[in-house]
Amino acid sequence: MDTHHHLLIRGGTIVDGTKAPRYDADVAIRDGRIVSIGELAGHSADRVIDATGRIVAPGFIDSHTHDDQAVLSQPELPFKVSQGVTTVVAGNCGISAAPLSADMELPMPLSLIDAPREARHGSFRSYFDALRARPSSVNVAALVGHSTLRAAVMAELDRPANAGEIAAMQAHVEEAMQAGAIGLSTGTFYPPAAKATTEEIIEVGRPLSARKALVVTHMRDEGDRVMEALDETFRIGRALDVPVVVSHHKVQNTRNHGRTKETLAFIQQSMQHQCIGLDCYPYTAGSTMIRTDRGMLDARILIASSVPHPEMAGRDLKDVAAEWGVSGKEAAERLQPGTAIYFMMDEADVQRILAFDDTMIGSDGIPVGEKPHPRLWGTFPRVLGHYCRDLGLFALETAIWKMTGLTARTFGLRERGSLQVGHHADVVIFDASKIRDAADYTHPTLPAQGIVTVIVNGAVTWHDGAHTGARAGQVITRADASPPSGSA
Ligand code: ZN
Ligand code: CU
Repeated sequence: MDTHHHLLIRGGTIVDGTKAPRYDADVAIRDGRIVSIGELAGHSADRVIDATGRIVAPGFIDSHTHDDQAVLSQPELPFKVSQGVTTVVAGNCGISAAPLSADMELPMPLSLIDAPREARHGSFRSYFDALRARPSSVNVAALVGHSTLRAAVMAELDRPANAGEIAAMQAHVEEAMQAGAIGLSTGTFYPPAAKATTEEIIEVGRPLSARKALVVTHMRDEGDRVMEALDETFRIGRALDVPVVVSHHKVQNTRNHGRTKETLAFIQQSMQHQCIGLDCYPYTAGSTMIRTDRGMLDARILIASSVPHPEMAGRDLKDVAAEWGVSGKEAAERLQPGTAIYFMMDEADVQRILAFDDTMIGSDGIPVGEKPHPRLWGTFPRVLGHYCRDLGLFALETAIWKMTGLTARTFGLRERGSLQVGHHADVVIFDASKIRDAADYTHPTLPAQGIVTVIVNGAVTWHDGAHTGARAGQVITRADASPPSGSA
């Protein structure tokens, strides 16, 4: 037996991502894989990391991201790696980086994460090839976005798709599946897909069925009609016979506060008949494009970014409106296009969803502008520090499972999400007594504290508060995808 390794993590306490109780062990890594876990006193390595007094866990998987372009344009992703995230699921809320062509005009929110026109990708194969040619610091699994498909094939988006358009969207879904996309995301909450019918989504999603690829959804309604939206989501899953994931589950607007008792009961009951997942970010404020409809202006709003008025980033909409001597609605309209932070949830609902057994942690971070929602930099340490350690909402083993093993299982990410011999060496080492999020609404880009070392596919990517420059991330494709052309 070979006892010399590339990397040896000594003396740490393993929380393995399966919810099993922690135990003390060393971890050996060679050629990007975990090769041994146990008492490895006689072993040696090119590099030894002392993890005494620290937790050694699987690298965190961010179940809900909009990092589609960031992995190409900001490939070190410090906002992810600094939190211990080693894998991102991109392409959420109906928005993906492909297929897009240079001549397309993109409406909000698609334009939020757009690339320069010449850097757009006409197919998923092209997108994944670009990522393989210039890897980022994290692994990427991606969904193809239904709103992006609508923009690609429809001349006007304010109506349901016709048969020809549905067929064209299906062909794109098929291409994405063959290239290795893990599923389809929808965002009927947003104008580009608000007029899509349930039937349109089912038909567009037909290529998912044979592969059991997922439908992941930013539902049509997370307010008054949240139960109807859940029902629609589950119906789509049953019609296609595929798993569904309810994105960033929440209930918004004061009059709906407390209704997670209803929604979670319905989710739990429906889980007995079909495969359902859900994710959540640990904050009572959401963030999305600036919009003035659907009661979005009812609560406190912070401007995160504005194309016409970048100087207003970080300001309260009320103050901007007062300064301009106009109504909140008028001010919001003047600030469009842009993004905002909406204080629209109830803390008890957030805690109830986080603590729900099957809830995955997902940041929904939007890597745009200087005043983003703090979830971009703080989500995972906030769950581990504030909610797990300080509030005792769940055990550390459960918290880590919600960001690793559960997520890998839900999205079908093989050989990741738990510390096991043979798995890819995605590992995070942190101090459980010190871990905390530092980003807040005033200083939203402060890196978290307590994350010591982050290893991606065996490469040390973050150590002692600094990025090492490593970019060892891989494209994670669905199991039955055809092998990429040219590479293994
Ligand atoms: Zn969303
Ligand atoms: Cu999202």
